[in-house]
Amino acid sequence: MEIKSAEFVISNSSVGKCPSTHAPEYAFIGRSNVGKSSLINMLTNNKKLAKTSATPGKTLLINHFLINNEWYLVDLPGYGYAKISKKEQEKLQQIISSYILCREQMTNLFVLVDSRHEPQKIDMEFIEWLGENGIPFSIVFTKADKSKPTKLKANIDAYLKALKEQWEELPPYFITSSENKTGRTELLNYIESINKS
Ligand code: GTP
Ligand code: MG
Repeated sequence: MEIKSAEFVISNSSVGKCPSTHAPEYAFIGRSNVGKSSLINMLTNNKKLAKTSATPGKTLLINHFLINNEWYLVDLPGYGYAKISKKEQEKLQQIISSYILCREQMTNLFVLVDSRHEPQKIDMEFIEWLGENGIPFSIVFTKADKSKPTKLKANIDAYLKALKEQWEELPPYFITSSENKTGRTELLNYIESINKS
């Protein structure tokens, strides 16, 4: 699919203030700093669209980006960011869970996991929670450029093994790098296939 236009629409902390259209939405979630905002920029070929940072905790609101005037990419705050107060963590958790549980336009949630690490408890628990709530999701392995191919494969295999222990059938998954655009075509084709179905 070709990205003809990508524009920022609105940021907010409440699912009730999200755009009141029926266009399908594809949202990005995962631990703080995993590369959610960078992936949105990579998909849209626009490094300045979503704000990124080497320091975790950059995205703190729900951000809607309108793509091709037809559908949205949605950048969410990360979970598991420990360097803020308990109260702020709870507020972020509330923003994330209310969007995921209440936003009917959300067609698919991409759960990003860092391909450099072994399966993390926080991610496995989050994925379990999605399953319990019947949320449609796929897995996106990020930062693939940061590991040697053998290590990358070993980490991804370990994740898939852990997922298989949770799920009878593996969710769709994608291997990506925002640095060198790995996985861009696959992700956009996947979104297109859902949009058409
Ligand atoms: P929060 O908004 O804080 O939750 O983080 P985020 O998940 O949106 O991460 P963000 O996109 O801001 O990226 C975090 C850091 O990782 C930045 O320094 C990015 O440049 C870097 N990064 C993201 N994706 C990649 C990638 O594919 N490869 C490499 N090498 N670095 C990446
Ligand atoms: Mg971000």
